[in-house]
Amino acid sequence: MSVFIGTSNPGFAPYAMEELRRRWPDVSLSGLAPGETFKLVVASVDDTELVRMLRRDEPVFLRHLFPVREELDMPEQAEGVASALVRFAGSLAEEVKGAKVAVQVRKSQDSPFPFSSAEARDLMVPALLESGAEGVSRGAKWILSVYAAKRSLYLGLSAPADNLSDWPGGAVRFRREEGLISRAAFKLLEAEQAFDLPFERFTNALDLGAAPGGWTSVLLERGLRVTAVDPAEMDESLDGHPTLRHLRQNAADLSFAPGTFDLLVCDMSWDPHHTARIVKQLAPALSAGASVIVTLKLMYKKPMQTISDLLASYEEKFDIRRVKQLFHNRDEVTLWMRK
Ligand SMILES: C[S@@+](CC[C@H](N)C(=O)[O-])C[C@H]1O[C@@H](n2cnc3c(N)ncnc32)[C@H](O)[C@@H]1O
Repeated sequence: MSVFIGTSNPGFAPYAMEELRRRWPDVSLSGLAPGETFKLVVASVDDTELVRMLRRDEPVFLRHLFPVREELDMPEQAEGVASALVRFAGSLAEEVKGAKVAVQVRKSQDSPFPFSSAEARDLMVPALLESGAEGVSRGAKWILSVYAAKRSLYLGLSAPADNLSDWPGGAVRFRREEGLISRAAFKLLEAEQAFDLPFERFTNALDLGAAPGGWTSVLLERGLRVTAVDPAEMDESLDGHPTLRHLRQNAADLSFAPGTFDLLVCDMSWDPHHTARIVKQLAPALSAGASVIVTLKLMYKKPMQTISDLLASYEEKFDIRRVKQLFHNRDEVTLWMRK
């Protein structure tokens, strides 16, 4: 049997749960933070097997999970909560000895948990240090997870990769760099990490729906030549950039010599079926093996059906690699494909 706490983007937990139900019809699911965090219990598989199956074929909407080792009734007094946290951290001594450990603490809005994440971490870290472990926030070998819900406290220890994300609850943070053109840039930075696709690998990119230029600026910083397509203005900070060309056109009207680009990115705010038609139309302009990253806008009522229809359409021209709702995606998911 396996017991986990799962998290999705706000409002998308019903779809994450549906994905789990399709894999394990016997899964039992209960909401902890509405629309976002839930407990899942699968009787037919153990933790290792469940994680192995999820990592081999990652669900779209499940952003993060951790295995529950202990589930406790929430103690009524703060001292009771503190001693439960310290005792749990101390109980891990054998496993974490000499290793880097990150403590990640989250709570639901209706939880009476009396500490901030930092306070709870400060309570647990001394017990870890006593075991000869090192407390870190990034680059850990182990993640000690705490999730405080309304009535229960869930505690676990796992390897970062087994959580699907090494960020607390999968909430990926990038440093807010000076002069960032748009928050949309974070989506592309997150896709680069999530799909393990360093953009330095590419030479010549086509960016469809590029304005004001967040994605374009990420690609330019990585040293690529970029053809940015958008009828709208690009940010003036990009004016005169030596490896940027801006075509003020509708992406539907473009054509290029065969094999011109080895990367196509597309974040057009348009009906995803129209977007798919345009991206497919541009397939000849890509070299063999070129990568394509597209945000799929979930503007219809049935996101799962929309995604499966779009994948069927894209599959006519491309090899689908991954589709994932990233932390920085709102009502959309990100698709990575190869030609
Ligand atoms: C969400 S914004 C893109 C943000 C951009 N990725 C960034 O990082 O700054 C969507 C853009 O798609 C553009 N767009 C919508 N339909 C388009 C089309 N048919 N051809 C080209 N651009 C289009 C809009 O003008 C808008 O600037």
